[in-house]
Amino acid sequence: MKFGLITLIWTAVLITLQTRARPLSRRSTSTLLLNGLGYQTNGDGNVTISIEAFAHLGSKPRGSFTHFLTSIFHKFHADVDNVGDHVATAMKRLDLFLAIGVPLDKMELTINGCDKNTVNLPRTGFKNLGVVTATEMVGKCRSSLPTAKIDSSETVTIYSSPPHGLGIISDIDDTIKITDVLEPGKMFENTAYKDPVPIAGMPELYASLSKSLTVQSIPPQFIYLSGSPFELFPFLSLFLKTHFSASLGPLFLQSLSITDPAEIIKSLGDGKSGQGKIDYKVGQIKRLYGFYPQKGFLAIGDSGEKDPEVYGKAYNEFGGNFIRCIWIHVLDDRKADNSDKRFEEAFKGVPADRIRKFHTSEIPSLQKIDVAGGKCN
Ligand SMILES: *[C@@H]1O[C@H](CO)[C@@H](O)[C@H](O)[C@H]1NC(C)=O
Repeated sequence: MKFGLITLIWTAVLITLQTRARPLSRRSTSTLLLNGLGYQTNGDGNVTISIEAFAHLGSKPRGSFTHFLTSIFHKFHADVDNVGDHVATAMKRLDLFLAIGVPLDKMELTINGCDKNTVNLPRTGFKNLGVVTATEMVGKCRSSLPTAKIDSSETVTIYSSPPHGLGIISDIDDTIKITDVLEPGKMFENTAYKDPVPIAGMPELYASLSKSLTVQSIPPQFIYLSGSPFELFPFLSLFLKTHFSASLGPLFLQSLSITDPAEIIKSLGDGKSGQGKIDYKVGQIKRLYGFYPQKGFLAIGDSGEKDPEVYGKAYNEFGGNFIRCIWIHVLDDRKADNSDKRFEEAFKGVPADRIRKFHTSEIPSLQKIDVAGGKCN
């Protein structure tokens, strides 16, 4: 494939930028703010928020990307008759991949709904390509949904939850959204230009869980954990708001340092493969355990990628009080490994009564399981 020239231009732009010693002024940059979460550590009701931001150059080298995308459409024979329209959609959706992360001296976040009104993000550098996470105590919050904003960024929600209660850790691709991760051509179409479609029955199931997992008036904390790159945040976040409005929560995405357009396509879906993906997701669950060590979670994923291995490992590492139940959507795709051997290995050390595997047609019946009462299947 002819990615050589694009890669060369890309590299040249990066090198030019990276040799600039002085941080860029804010005028030429934009900031993407991802939604965050809030947790309480001291038992005094003070909330600590954790929120991620990405600072990048306002202008992006779009021209060569159009050609690149067009070549991908032809490679996958993806509805080539309408390729112009689809490339336009894909350009919008994948736009952030073209954003070049930049260092900023200081970014001040405006918080609405808590004692403290401003939070400074740590300085961003080239090393992390402009991605930073702020973790800061903001005092008491009047609402469980305070908001945050930087300059011209969109206002995002901080999902705050008390120490106790239950939660749901959910994968996205092929668990709640049709992505076809195992079919590269379909995955590309589903991510780049087709309207995202939820897995049938999942929006209703999650709406039902938001009620049935409410204990002592504490609603469950939904956490969406995906291996997809954070550049897809606007796309996935809109998908959740559209189809899962009754079960919203922070969206954890991966920071993959993509500097080569060819890597973009490989990164869609669940980003890394194999052990890298397991380590990434288990690492995120560990972070979550640090925030909410006393909560109990229902972990939901699918058999397409590594969710059984991830949740099995998390159960063994953080215990059955933290990972209460594991639900796995068994994909009816011949490329999915649904063998007994795979599940036995993945769930070593996890009692069978904590696991529920289900086919798409069984999704409505999952609403009847009394998870709050300690049942998993
Ligand atoms: C809790 O927040 C208040 C301000 O809202 C602050 O005065 C107090 O010191 C904080 N407590 C701790 C333990 O940090």
